[in-house]
Amino acid sequence: MPAAVLIGAQWGDEGKGKATDLLGSRLDYVVKFNGGNNAGHTVVVGDEKYALHLLPSGILTPGVVPVIANGVVVDIEVLFEELEGLESRGVDVSKLRVSANAHLITQYHRTLDKVTERFLGSRQIGTTGRGIGPAYADKINRVGLRMQDLFDENILRQKVEGALDQKNHLLVKVYNRRAIGVDEVVDDLLGYVERLRPMVTDTSLLLHQALERGETVLFEGGQATMLDVDHGTYPFVTSSNATSGGAVTGSGIAPNRIDRVIAVVKAYTTRVGAGPFPTELFDEWGEFLSEKGHEFGTTTGRRRRTGWYDAPIARYASRVNGVTDFVLTKLDVLTGLERIPVAVAYEVDGQRVDEVPVSQSDFHHATPVYEEFPGWQEDISGARSFEELPANAQAYVRALEAMSGSRISAIGVGPGREEIVQLHDLLD
Ligand code: GDP
Ligand code: IMO
Ligand code: MG
Repeated sequence: MPAAVLIGAQWGDEGKGKATDLLGSRLDYVVKFNGGNNAGHTVVVGDEKYALHLLPSGILTPGVVPVIANGVVVDIEVLFEELEGLESRGVDVSKLRVSANAHLITQYHRTLDKVTERFLGSRQIGTTGRGIGPAYADKINRVGLRMQDLFDENILRQKVEGALDQKNHLLVKVYNRRAIGVDEVVDDLLGYVERLRPMVTDTSLLLHQALERGETVLFEGGQATMLDVDHGTYPFVTSSNATSGGAVTGSGIAPNRIDRVIAVVKAYTTRVGAGPFPTELFDEWGEFLSEKGHEFGTTTGRRRRTGWYDAPIARYASRVNGVTDFVLTKLDVLTGLERIPVAVAYEVDGQRVDEVPVSQSDFHHATPVYEEFPGWQEDISGARSFEELPANAQAYVRALEAMSGSRISAIGVGPGREEIVQLHDLLD
């Protein structure tokens, strides 16, 4: 089975890192195609815990070639910090390949991200402050810097000058900050050139050749469907396409190459940052999910907002991404509840709505229509087959499956690599 895309179905942090890691040994390439170091993937291997931001989770599996494709925005300083961190723990990072067309996040993108958020006041998005939005804005505005520019100092200098011409006006006159010098940016970037040279290549061609040889490629999405700049809760989104279509434009691999689309979905819902969230809880149950699920951001440490499972969102993710398989994570977190509510539809202005409303205003004041399912009290972390789950847990999973538009092929029962119940092969 040559090419699969793995994405998040909700607002991120569904456990994509763990799901990628699960497939690890069967993969030849793992490709990050969108986002940057706004992502935070925690992977637990035995007693070791890894937090990855910019690198695809496949880097933890020996033999896998990790790829940062053209759709990613790369903060080079963070790239090397992360590589060095892994190397010092004995992980072989020498196979990493980076697209010559990937865009760069520089000091001025990070600064602009922070000052524009401050300026938005109550309309803040709650970004990760990593410069993601400004770097993608420059890409679309055609004033971005690409990896390949690093290898031509004249071009690099010209491009930085062009970008800073605009940015310094903004920084000084609007945001009351100091101007950033061309030299400081160029010198910073040039410092990495020799180490980058062997990694930077035409990753579209590399992946094409791998697929021609019949090798297995996993495209690992950062963020998630509801954070997608086109299909998410705009403007409370990230600035890239986190849905499966992003794997195509973000890597230079054609859509008819993709065989499987795996969506990772939590057994409840979380969200970091601002924006609508119909099933959000503000009571002790929200607290329960937050504490029991350790729902604190891997990247910023922020407390994640929590709520019940939202079936219209899963159905929406299934449709927009063409999901073939769901990986349902964190089922163990629900253990101990008497009853588990699930949103099966919304009510908007007194009307029942079965699908995610296209109007943001409607979505902002959609209230969930809940159906309740009986909970279970038994510890499920040791279950390795569906039959070993308590009857009520099985019924909960089957009910979600019926409402969510695609089959559930694996169930997470704990953070560890082996804490999983497999129902179907994700790659076949
Ligand atoms: P990602 O951004 O989608 O890769 O997800 P994060 O790593 O940010 O957040 C998911 C968290 O849930 C991580 O701390 C994982 O170790 C943990 N996790 C993943 N699957 C499970 C599971 O089935 N049960 C439990 N209890 N934790 C899980
Ligand atoms: P992973 O890959 C959860 C959210 C931020 C903010 C919005 C925009 O770990 O699932 P940005 O810095 O991207 O401009 O912020 O998107 N966000 C995430 N939330 N998980 C993520 O990644 C996220 N990446 C960005 O909190 O609301
Ligand atoms: Mg995360």
